[in-house]
This record gives sequence, C-alpha cells and structure tokens, in this order.
Amino acid sequence: MSKILVTGGLGFIGSHTVVELVNAGYEPVIVDNLSNSNPKILDQLSKILGFKPNYYKLDLCYEQEIAELVSKEPDLAGIIHFAASKAVGESVQKPLMYYKNNFFSLLNLLEAYQGKKLNFVFSSSCTVYGQPDELPVTEKAPVKKAQSPYGNTKQVAEEILQDVIASGSAYKIISLRYFNPVGAHQSALIGELPIGVPQNLVPFITQTAIGKRQKLTVFGDDYNTPDGSNIRDYIHVVDLAKAHVAALRYMETATDFTGYDVVNIGTGKGSSVLEVIHAFEKTTGVKLNYEIGPRRPGDVEQVWGDVTKAAEKLKWKTELDVDQMMLTAWNWEKYINENPL
Ligand code: WQD
Repeated sequence: MSKILVTGGLGFIGSHTVVELVNAGYEPVIVDNLSNSNPKILDQLSKILGFKPNYYKLDLCYEQEIAELVSKEPDLAGIIHFAASKAVGESVQKPLMYYKNNFFSLLNLLEAYQGKKLNFVFSSSCTVYGQPDELPVTEKAPVKKAQSPYGNTKQVAEEILQDVIASGSAYKIISLRYFNPVGAHQSALIGELPIGVPQNLVPFITQTAIGKRQKLTVFGDDYNTPDGSNIRDYIHVVDLAKAHVAALRYMETATDFTGYDVVNIGTGKGSSVLEVIHAFEKTTGVKLNYEIGPRRPGDVEQVWGDVTKAAEKLKWKTELDVDQMMLTAWNWEKYINENPL
C-alpha cells in the first residue's frame, strides 16, 4: 500500500485528509508536533477508520528529528505538507516565529527526502492573490504583495518549490491554493479545534450558537457587495481533503505533468458573511446573536475562485454546499461541547 506522509496530520485539514487517504486505499503516516492540534484526534481518527494510523510526534524544524523519521520511513510514495502556522493576525504580531516555523519545516522536509521520486502536495492559500483585480480569480492571476507574514510564507514557499523543481529534483509538486475551509466530518468525530477565541468566521458562529461566545460581530456591512458584507469562497473540509487525493492521483497518472503546478481549490462560488449566517440559522434552526461592527483591518472585500483547472486536471469538484458546511460544523460543535477532548 502506498505510504503518504501527512505533516500536520492531526490538524483540521490534515485529519480529514488522513480519512480520505485511507478511503482511497493509501496508508497515511502522520507527523505532528501538537503545537496547534490535539493528540486525542488520533483516537477520534481510530473511531472513524477502525485502526490507529501510524503517528510520529516530531517537529520538522529540527533536522535531527526529521533524520530519525527518514530512517523509519524511507519509502514514501508521497508527502502532503500541512504543518505550518496559519493565523493571519498572529503572524503580524510574531513574524519571526512564522518565518522560522513555516520555512524551516518546509526546507528540512524537502532536503530530507530529496533524490526520492515523491509526489509532494503543498498546502497553499488563496491569500496569495490578495484582492484580485478580476473575479473569479484564476491561477494565472498575479500573486500580490502579501498582506501578512503568513501570506508571505505561502508566496515564498511556492517560489521555493518552483526552484526545487527547476533544479532537476526527482519530486513532482502541486501547490493547492485553498479558499476558506469550513465544516466537519459527517461523523462529527473530527472538526476544527480553534485554540482560544476563534479568528475565523464559522467556528465563531458555532461557538456563539452553543453559548461559548456571547455574540458574533460581522466585520463591516458597508463593502461594495450585494448585502454589504464580505464575500468568500467557503469550501467543505471533506471536499478539500478529497482534492489532496485527486492531486496525488494526478501526479501518479498524468503524462503531461511538468513537475510543478498550482491549482485553486474552492467551490467557484462566493458567499457573503450574512448569507453564511442565514444558511446557518436555516439549516440548524438556531437563531444567531450577531451585530454589525467595524471592518477588520487587512480583510479583502471579496474573493472566490475559478476552479476550472481543478476539474480539468484533477478531475475533482466540490460536492457539498454551504448548508452542509453549516450543519456539519454545528454537529461537531455540539459533539465537542458534550465530549471535550
Ligand atoms: C471570513 C469572513 C471576515 C470572523 C483566513 C486566511 C486564509 C485562511 C482562512 C489559512 C471575513 C468575516 C470573520 C468574525 C466576521 N487561513 N468575519 N466576524 O480572513 O477570509 O481567511 O482564514 O489558510 O488564508 O486569510 O477567513 O474566517 O477569518 O473571515 O465578520 O468574527 O468572515 O471579515 O469577511 P479569511 P475568516
């Protein structure tokens, strides 16, 4: 069975991808330093999978730790690299932590397995587009000066990957530019576990609905959008997880693959903050306590993806809609409220 290393595999997107890898017949090997994840997710994954996946607690920033990993796991068919710090606001406050963690982990990983014929999937982000000039945004759109050190780490990481391929590496690499991952596994056994006060919209919605937060603030309704609130391309995390399997399959089978490519992973549709709130209320029957507040600095007004390339190259498209995103996110919130990890 083809082994796939999943760095950050106990995290939100990583854990959902571990499930889809097993569903697709791969053997996932999880690496996670637990800096932004909960070890109990491994037990939760065992409940879903019926077995406990291989897991190594290690920090990719330390070359010695990664050398031990290579000696234990020399024969990988692929790597999916999620492990990185990813909070936009925090990155502005702690740029050195972000540059060190996100670059050292990537560079050490690439160096540790260099020379091996590996299919490498990199977790990138639509944040590299900033506020696109045209919508929906395609992969050909210019990458704009990042609004945050976090966004800059994604932009520079993509350049590093292109340079590695240009040097004649044995790797094949695809960068997936995610839009806004939300929702949870239909079992409600895994989902998003924000540490502290959620920065992102959907966990703040579900924590408000369950009573952990008093009220949601909508960051501005005076934007140039139909209802005045920001627009984003929200994608169900299970659809996103399946896109990683599709990317591996593409690199395994494509005859036209040039070594490096970039693919948008979204629904291709935009939803406003107020539309998401109303979808939540409609699907769950829970009335949400929210108010309109000031704009959040750094927010782009509206962005959603052109996902033609993902359909054509990866033979992948989303199957779950915003209602499913809200319902699964709410079921997960109720589950962890009754079963704290
Ligand atoms: C979505 C919308 C807010 C909270 C970021 C990163 C991106 C990715 C996803 C890592 C915005 C509004 C939010 C709240 C609100 N992260 N909002 N009240 O900023 O689009 O994307 O997270 O890869 O790279 O940039 O996501 O969920 O923070 O915000 O009104 O309490 O919800 O203004 O319009 P964002 P978000």
